[in-house]
Amino acid sequence: MKFKAMTAIAALVAAPLSAVADPDDDTLVVNEEIEMVTKAAAPDHLSDTLDEVMSGWHFRSDETQSLQMDDFDNPAMVFVDQALEKWEEVEGAAGKSCASCHDDVEESMKGVRAVYPKWNDEKEAVYTMAMQINDCRETGMQAEKWKYTGGNMAAMEALISVQSRGMPVNVAIDGPAEAAWEMGKELYYTRTGQLELSCANCHEDNYGNMIRADHLSQGQINGFPTYRLKNAKINTVHARFKGCVRDTRAETYSPGSDEFVALELYVASRGNGLSVEGPSVRN
Ligand code: HEC
Ligand code: HEC
Repeated sequence: MKFKAMTAIAALVAAPLSAVADPDDDTLVVNEEIEMVTKAAAPDHLSDTLDEVMSGWHFRSDETQSLQMDDFDNPAMVFVDQALEKWEEVEGAAGKSCASCHDDVEESMKGVRAVYPKWNDEKEAVYTMAMQINDCRETGMQAEKWKYTGGNMAAMEALISVQSRGMPVNVAIDGPAEAAWEMGKELYYTRTGQLELSCANCHEDNYGNMIRADHLSQGQINGFPTYRLKNAKINTVHARFKGCVRDTRAETYSPGSDEFVALELYVASRGNGLSVEGPSVRN
C-alpha cells in the first residue's frame, strides 16, 4: 500500500527544477490597507508535522497574486456586489431579507468567517457557514435553500468573508466540536482512490513541489471562497475538496455531507493564525 502511494506520488510530482518552486516571500497587502498574515507558526496540533503554515497565495504566479491585492482587480468583487444586493432582497413567505434580521452586513458579519465552521448548540452539530445561511433562508425567510456550492451561496460567503479580511482564522477544535475534528483529521490522512493518495500526501508531504504544471500549496482554506481564473467563478471549499478527491480517482463525498463538514473544520484548523483572505484569486 505504502509503496504504491509512493510510486503514484513520484509519478505525479516533478522534482522542483530550481528555487522557483519554493513559496515566495512576498507580502500581501490588500487595497494598500489590509495587511495579511500569510505565513504563521503552525498551530499546536500540527507542531509534530509542520513548522509553518502558509497561505496558498504564496504559491501562485506574480500575475495571479497581484489580482488579489486590489479590489478593483479582484474579479470576485463583482459577485460580492451582487451578494450585497441579495442581502437586501426580500424573498420567501416570511417577507424578509437577510438585512431584515441582520441589518448592516459590515457590522453584523464582522469576525464571523474567522470562526467557521463552528459548533451550533441548538442543532448539536458543527455548522459550516453555508449550512447556517441555508438555515436562515429556510427557517427565517421561508425561502428556498441555495445549492450548497452554487453561485448564490459562493457569492454570499464571499460577501461575509470580506467583513473579516485580515482577521486571524480561529476555529475551535475542542469541546463539542472535537469529535467532528477527529473525523476530519482521519479523512485528511486516509488514502483514497486508484492513486491511493491522501490530502496529506500532496498538501503536507509535497507542498512546494510541482504537480502537473501546478505549484502545490498546503491546501489551506483561509482564502475561500476563491475566484478561479480556470472557471471564471467563485468556488466554495466543498467544490474544491470534491475536485481534489476526484483527482485521486476516488468516489467523492457530496458537498454538505458530514464527512466534508468534518474535513472543512479540520482543514480550517490547520490554518488557525493565518488571515482570512477570502475571496482570494487562484488559477
Ligand atoms: C428571521 C431572521 C433572519 C433572517 C431573515 C436571516 N437570518 Fe441569519 N441568523 C438569524 C439568527 C437568529 C441567527 C443566529 C444568531 C446567532 O446565533 O448568532 C443567524 C445567524 C446567521 C449567521 C451566523 C452568525 C454567527 O455569528 O455565527 C450567518 C452567517 C447568517 N445568519 C447569514 C444570513 C444570511 C446570508 C441571510 C439571508 C440570506 C440571513 N442570515 C437571514 C436570523 C436571520
Ligand atoms: C494528487 C495531489 C492532491 C491531493 C491528493 C489533494 N490535492 Fe488539494 N490540490 C492539489 C492541487 C494540484 C491543487 C492546486 C494547487 C494548490 O493550491 O495546491 C490543490 C488545491 C487545493 C486547495 C486550494 C488551496 C488554495 O489556496 O486555493 C485546497 C483547499 C485543497 N487542495 C484541499 C485538499 C484536500 C482537503 C484534500 C484531501 C481530500 C486534497 N486537497 C487532496 C492536489 C491535491
